[in-house]
Amino acid sequence: MANNRLFDDIVQWDIANWKRAIEFWNESIDINDIQGKKILELGANKGGLSLYFALNGGEVVCSDYIPETIDEEEYWKEAKKLHKKYGVDKRITYRNIDACKINQKEMFDIITFKSVCGAVGRNGNISNQKEMFAGIYQALKSGGCLLFCDNLSGTKLHRMMRSKFSKAYKNGWEYLNYNKFDSLLDEFFIQYKSFGLFACFIKNKYLNKFFGKIDKFLEHLTVPEKRYIVSCIAYKDKPKFR
Ligand SMILES: C[S@@+](CC[C@H](N)C(=O)[O-])C[C@H]1O[C@@H](n2cnc3c(N)ncnc32)[C@H](O)[C@@H]1O
Repeated sequence: MANNRLFDDIVQWDIANWKRAIEFWNESIDINDIQGKKILELGANKGGLSLYFALNGGEVVCSDYIPETIDEEEYWKEAKKLHKKYGVDKRITYRNIDACKINQKEMFDIITFKSVCGAVGRNGNISNQKEMFAGIYQALKSGGCLLFCDNLSGTKLHRMMRSKFSKAYKNGWEYLNYNKFDSLLDEFFIQYKSFGLFACFIKNKYLNKFFGKIDKFLEHLTVPEKRYIVSCIAYKDKPKFR
């Protein structure tokens, strides 16, 4: 199991909450049993999840949607450096993939992403999000699964704070709720869990860590939909054992 410092590199922000969101996937898949499995990370940026899956033996395609104006070699510099640091660079290839136009059929055992839905659906572009999930469904092998975690719309306080302080919100980020995820994932067999309340407001690294621990206890006082991270396991086919 990955240690905390490793999760700093995988998640980079609000580690305590996002770490638990990723570890939730272990409830359904055996992360130690993905040797040689084909994995696609979408919207990877620094490639944190690619690192996570490659460390566990997966053959990973680390992808992001890179505009023509940006040099791809330059774009992947940070991700490649990170993957080299952990000695998994040989197990990872890098691709320019628009998550709305994956155009692959039954290629991957696992598709994964973190914090990508809101960017794909920028300015209320639900049809982009629909295309993304339809493309993921197609690209998964039979028996494959989608593992993702993303931002929920959360409470009124989350929405108010984002409208005042969040750059992503100002750039049109589309925060989803459970109902919207349900309708986007209607072809899949899904399991959700949600995490995090207040740590997302705290920029200071040490205070953020502290609030991450507090969130773990306060979460139980709120309904799942009011937390700010959703983690999802979505199977292409009905799982045999649940
Ligand atoms: C908030 S960042 C998250 C990056 C990374 N997954 C993480 O969690 O650190 C959003 C990512 O979505 C990517 N993105 C936006 N539109 C996309 C699209 N149409 N297809 C694939 N990725 C996209 C961006 O390039 C960016 O890397």
